[in-house]
Amino acid sequence: MKDQIFKLIEKEEQRQKEMIGLIPSENVVSPEVSQVLSSCLSNKYSEGYAGRRYYEGSQIVDEIELLAIERVKKLFGVPYVNVQPYSGSPANMAIYFALMEPGDTLMGLKLAMGGHLTHGHPKVTGSGRFYNSVQYGLGKDARIDFSEVRKLAQEQKPKVIVAGNTAYPFELDFKKFREIADEVGAWLVADISHVTGLVIAGEHMSPVPYADVIMTTTHKTFRGPRGAMILVTERGLKRDQDLGQKIDSAIIPGLQGGPHNATTAAIAIAAAQAMTPEFKKYAQQIKKNAAVLAEALKARGLTLVGGGTENHLILIDLTPYGVGFGTQAAFALDVAGMYANRNTIPDEKGSPFYPSGLRIGTPLVTTRGMKEPEMEQIADWIYRAIEAVKEYQLPEDKKQVKAFLSKFRGEALQNKTLLAIREEVEELTKNFKLFCETT
Ligand SMILES: Cc1ncc(COP(=O)(O)O)c(C=O)c1O
Repeated sequence: MKDQIFKLIEKEEQRQKEMIGLIPSENVVSPEVSQVLSSCLSNKYSEGYAGRRYYEGSQIVDEIELLAIERVKKLFGVPYVNVQPYSGSPANMAIYFALMEPGDTLMGLKLAMGGHLTHGHPKVTGSGRFYNSVQYGLGKDARIDFSEVRKLAQEQKPKVIVAGNTAYPFELDFKKFREIADEVGAWLVADISHVTGLVIAGEHMSPVPYADVIMTTTHKTFRGPRGAMILVTERGLKRDQDLGQKIDSAIIPGLQGGPHNATTAAIAIAAAQAMTPEFKKYAQQIKKNAAVLAEALKARGLTLVGGGTENHLILIDLTPYGVGFGTQAAFALDVAGMYANRNTIPDEKGSPFYPSGLRIGTPLVTTRGMKEPEMEQIADWIYRAIEAVKEYQLPEDKKQVKAFLSKFRGEALQNKTLLAIREEVEELTKNFKLFCETT
C-alpha cells in the first residue's frame, strides 16, 4: 500500500500548482535538480574533502564535489569555494567560527529592519549569544544608514561586518561597506542568499570585488537545492592565505559531519544552469516583474516600504490598515490562493508576532513563466484580498488576540470575495507549469 507520505506529497504538489507563491525566498527547482536530489548519492557517507575522506568508496563523490566547486568558482570568478554547508544558517556560523573568537564583535543589520537571525540577532540566536553583537539599522528613507554603520563601526571596532538582507527591497552597496570595513580593519562578509541569481546575471552589484567572504543559500534566486556555499574572494585570500583552509575546517570538523552529496551534485547542476543565457533572462524578468508589481500595488493605494523595489522583493506597509495587520493580510491572501509572509517593517509599531508588513517577491512566479500582465493581475488580487478583511482589527488587549484570530480565520475561510479570487487564481495557474522550461 502506498505510504501516506506519498499522498501528502501529491497534495502539496497540487497546492503549489494551483496557488501563487509570493514568498521571496522560495523558488521551484528544475526537473534535473529534482532528479539529482532523489538519486543514489544520498546513500553515501563521505566526511572530509576530495582526496582526503574518512570513508572509502568516495572516488565518485570526490569528482562530483570538485566539479561543483569548479563550476561555482567560474560562475562568480572567485578562487575558493566550499559547497558543503547544510544550509545558510550553519554556513554563516562557519564563517564566524573561521574569522572570530567567541566574544569578538559582530556587526549586522537588525532583524526587524530586514537583516537575518544569523546576522547577530541578540539573545536567542547563536550569532547573538557567542559574539558581541552590535546592529545597525535603516534611515528615514528605509535604506541602510551608512553614517550610522560608520559611527557604530568606529565605536565598536567589529571583527566582522555582515552586509546581507532578507527583507530589504534595495540594492546592497558593498563598496560602501568595504570602505567602512577598511577604516576599522574588519572582515567584510556578504550574505547574498536572496540576490545570488541577480548578482550572477549582473542585475545586482556584485560583492566579489569588495567582500572577503561571501555566503549564499542555493535554494532562493540561485534556483538550486536547499543548501549553501561559501566563497572566498581574491581579496580575502590576499589578507589571509589560509582563509580557505580555515573555512574548510570550520565546516568539518568545526560544525558539520558528512556532506549531503545529492545536494552537492544538484548545486553543480544549478550552477551550470545559471551560466546559460536563459538564466540571465530569468533574473532580468524577476526584477521587471517586481517593479511592475510594486507600481501596480501603489496605483491601487497600497504603501510600500521605501516606496518601491530595486530587487526581487517588496515590503508592503499595512499600517494604514491598522498596526499588526500583517497577520490578517497574509491569511486572507492564503485563502485567496496566494501565499506570502507577514513581516516586520522598519520602526514597527506592532509586535514581531503580529507585525504590520507583508513581504512578497517574484522569483517563484517568474520561474513559472509569469510576466508583466500577470503581475498587474496579482496586484489587483492582493489589493482586493486585503480590502476584503480590513474591518478585522487586532485587539489591543493581548488576552483577546487568540479568540479574535480564531473568529477572523473562521470567517475569512467563508469570505465570498476571497473565495471568488481563489477561483480566478486557479484559472490562471492552470496555464503555468511549476517550472517553465523557457525560464
Ligand atoms: C540572508 C539570509 N541568510 C541566511 C539565511 C538562512 O538560510 P537557511 O534558512 O537555509 O538556514 C536566510 C534564509 O532565509 C537568508 O535570507
